[in-house]
Amino acid sequence: MRRRLSLIAAAATLGLTLAGCGGAAETPSNTAAPASEATGKVGVFTWWADGSEKVGLDALVKVFNTDYPGLTFDNLAVAGGAGSQAKSVLAAQLKAGNPPDSFQAHAGAELQDYIDAEQLEDLTSFYTDNNLTDQFPKDLIDRLTVDGKIYSVPSNIHRSNVVWANVEVLKDAGLDPTKPAEDLDAWIADLEKIKASGKTPLAVAGSWTQVQLFENVLLSSLGVDGYNGLWDGATDWKGADVTKAIESYKKVLSYTNTDRDSLSDWAPATQLVQDGAAGYNLMGDWAEAKFAQDGDVAGTDYTYFPMPGTKGVFNFLADSFTLPVGAPNPAGAKAWLTTIGSAEGQAAFNKAKGSIPANTTAKTDDFSEYQKSAIKDFSQDKIVSSLAHGAAVPVAWLNDLSTAVSKFGGDNDVAALQESAATTAEKFAK
Ligand code: GAL
Repeated sequence: MRRRLSLIAAAATLGLTLAGCGGAAETPSNTAAPASEATGKVGVFTWWADGSEKVGLDALVKVFNTDYPGLTFDNLAVAGGAGSQAKSVLAAQLKAGNPPDSFQAHAGAELQDYIDAEQLEDLTSFYTDNNLTDQFPKDLIDRLTVDGKIYSVPSNIHRSNVVWANVEVLKDAGLDPTKPAEDLDAWIADLEKIKASGKTPLAVAGSWTQVQLFENVLLSSLGVDGYNGLWDGATDWKGADVTKAIESYKKVLSYTNTDRDSLSDWAPATQLVQDGAAGYNLMGDWAEAKFAQDGDVAGTDYTYFPMPGTKGVFNFLADSFTLPVGAPNPAGAKAWLTTIGSAEGQAAFNKAKGSIPANTTAKTDDFSEYQKSAIKDFSQDKIVSSLAHGAAVPVAWLNDLSTAVSKFGGDNDVAALQESAATTAEKFAK
């Protein structure tokens, strides 16, 4: 538990350097298998099953097929944004001793869960063999490292605190799309104006997208230190500032589409903005891929800005890929991980996914303006960890909090949500 807490704390306060890696014994079976000798099928588990996310995965698979013509990619994707369905399916498969060759896991606390359960092979020597250590940001490597061992290969870096807006809807409501609100109160005033114009002010979908909205209201309201403190125990969940933040969340939620729980996933919520039915959608920058692939033009059709009150803060999450203990084709998995870690794989995948490459040597000249701005922001902003996307807390903590946030959508009971979140934090921070 102490290791878990220290990783959560590390995830919350970046800037750590890589603690001496290597040195420990490896499990001979999986880590010994070289990618160059791989043959057969490589089963890869993700939640990038459809829409723009599948386009991203396909771009990566295309590079993999070129790199390894002798291998067959076996797509084991389970639909549901943020892994809302996939993670429990995966947990059952791992428990049954039936792992895929590689699976998607978020950098940070979520990865720690799998490490604690001893479900992952140590990839430290894979990093050394492929000269990878210097190609990723040190603070990202740190989130993949426990006791000096690195356990996964990151494929991308996403940002959670982005508001996407329909330019026409904003103009019709008398707002200037080039001048986004600076803080939560100003944004609430803008939401009110869109409501008055007859459109849905803010589009959101079911549970996990509400959790993502919640985390960004917390971040905006509490600031970086207050937000980070929620995950490492420094911020009292029962405090008056948290009450105020939850009151703000209640207000913001009151401007969302009432059918939110019946929207199947993030994409239909983003679509409401694309269709001009809603003004805003708070969504991770996988939404950029959807806008771009649907032919929408930034600045004309849509625009984007950091969640009001979070300018200069990059709410971080990253996907990474693993080599599970007992993978049927470890050499094939290493081939997959080699493509993922490569500059070419990262350029192709991230361009299509809306994210930015984790590998700093990947070419990004042809990336969108949004992506170029995200690369710049990531290099200079304060970095915090996303709650909804596995960076800030372990899966069990997130699941408890998600249940409370979903319930809040129905009863709007501020005290109940605060009490429940505080109890959950106490449970997991012990
Ligand atoms: C995140 C994941 C992203 C994207 C998003 C929506 O958890 O890290 O890559 O897939 O969910 O599904």
